[in-house]
Amino acid sequence: MEEQVFAEVDRFIGETIVAEDEALRGALEAAEAAGLPSIQVSPPQGKLLQLLVRLVGAKQILEFGTLGGYSAILMARALSPGGRLITLEAKAGYAEVARRSIDRAGVGDRVEVRVGPALEALPALEQEEAGPFDLVFIDADKVNTPNYFAWALDHTRPGGLIIADNVVRKGTLGDPTDPDEATKAQRRLHEMLAAEPRVDATTIQTVGVKGYDGFLIALVEQA
Ligand code: SAH
Ligand code: DHB
Ligand code: MG
Repeated sequence: MEEQVFAEVDRFIGETIVAEDEALRGALEAAEAAGLPSIQVSPPQGKLLQLLVRLVGAKQILEFGTLGGYSAILMARALSPGGRLITLEAKAGYAEVARRSIDRAGVGDRVEVRVGPALEALPALEQEEAGPFDLVFIDADKVNTPNYFAWALDHTRPGGLIIADNVVRKGTLGDPTDPDEATKAQRRLHEMLAAEPRVDATTIQTVGVKGYDGFLIALVEQA
């Protein structure tokens, strides 16, 4: 019953202040047709990402976890002129679907999709001296969120943002006895940040079409 209310409110927000256009609907249809799971950010969450991209005036964005390209399209649209987004996806089939949807959305010139496990993509980014990034969105395999965060912290400019999706996990984040490895990783990330002077961060719990979860937002401090 509550879940239904959350979804209804997301629908109302979608009908009023957060519009989903043809290209975004097309990306979701393509993802569904190809059998991708429907786990992209919700439209209100996606709009928050866009607002954050605009607030930091992001020109360089790194995303962990492309899926069908939904969040990548949203963030690419909010980039400052001349900006670029690199998105990392483990599954070649997903990356292909994303590539096509990103091109159809008209932001293909600004977005690079790299295929392979994200941890394996990082040395190449390092070598190319990609970044420093203005915003990093971590949304791939949840057990690696702390690893991605640690790398992001070394490659995000002061004043930039690191955002991690799915850290609350139906409230299991608050349970020190929860045995799930993905949950344990989010707890470890929070404990890591408690002792990390380079960021100022918070976690916001969310409800909506995707149920109960939440995201962490970290501002990288000036040196
Ligand atoms: N950011 C997307 C949703 C991503 S869902 C959006 O909101 O539209 C999580 C994605 O991470 C899935 O596509 C999954 O295949 C991918 N993934 C899982 N493990 C990964 C890994 N080790 N490296 C890169 N991507 C991974
Ligand atoms: C899953 C992944 C996500 O990024 C998300 O927002 C929801 C669910 C998943 O892997 O199940
Ligand atoms: Mg997610």
